[in-house]
Amino acid sequence: MQSLSELEQKCRSCTRCALSEMRTNCVFGTGSPTADVMFVGEAPGAKEDESGIPFVGMAGKLLDKYLEAVGIERSQVYIANILKCRPPQNRDPLPEEQDACIEYLREQVRLIEPKIIVCLGRIAAMRLIKPDFLITKEHGVFFTKNEYTLTAVYHPAALLRDPAKKEAMYEDMKTIASYIRGEIAR
Ligand code: URA
Repeated sequence: MQSLSELEQKCRSCTRCALSEMRTNCVFGTGSPTADVMFVGEAPGAKEDESGIPFVGMAGKLLDKYLEAVGIERSQVYIANILKCRPPQNRDPLPEEQDACIEYLREQVRLIEPKIIVCLGRIAAMRLIKPDFLITKEHGVFFTKNEYTLTAVYHPAALLRDPAKKEAMYEDMKTIASYIRGEIAR
C-alpha cells in the first residue's frame, strides 16, 4: 500500500481533469496521518490554491474557531476536500470533476482510517453520505456507511452568510468532540 506522501506526490502531478490546468497548487490535505477525525470540504478557494493548504481563508478561520471552542487542535485532525484543485470563480464542483478526483479522497480515508468523517457542507455530504442529503434537516446526524461513521455540519462559508446557523454548528461540533473523546457509544 502506498503512503500518504506517495499519494500526495501523485496528486500534485495529476491531470485527470481540466482544473489541473488552472491550478497554482494542488490542495491535497493537511493534518495528522493518524487523525481520529477527518473533515472534508468541497474544493479549494483562492487562498487555498495560493497556499496549497485547505481551509486557510475566511471560512477556514471560522472552522479554526469552532475547533478551538470544542477543544480540538487543528494538528490533531486531517482536513481535505472532495476536489483537490480550485474550480474557476469557486463554482460548485462538476460531477465529472468529482468522479475524476474522488479516488484520492478514498485512498486518504483508507490510509488515515479516521473514527469519523465530518462533511463540511452539502456538497461533501451529498457525495459521501447520500445524494439526497438535506443539510438543513440532517446536519449533526450520524450515519454508518461501509463501516465508516459519517456526519455533516454546515459549511463555514454558509455560517458567514447566515449567522443564525452558528448555534447549530456549535452543538454539532460539541457532539463530534464528545464522540472522538469516546463519551458517546461507537
Ligand atoms: N471551502 C472548501 O470547501 N474548502 C476549502 O479548502 C476552502 C473553502
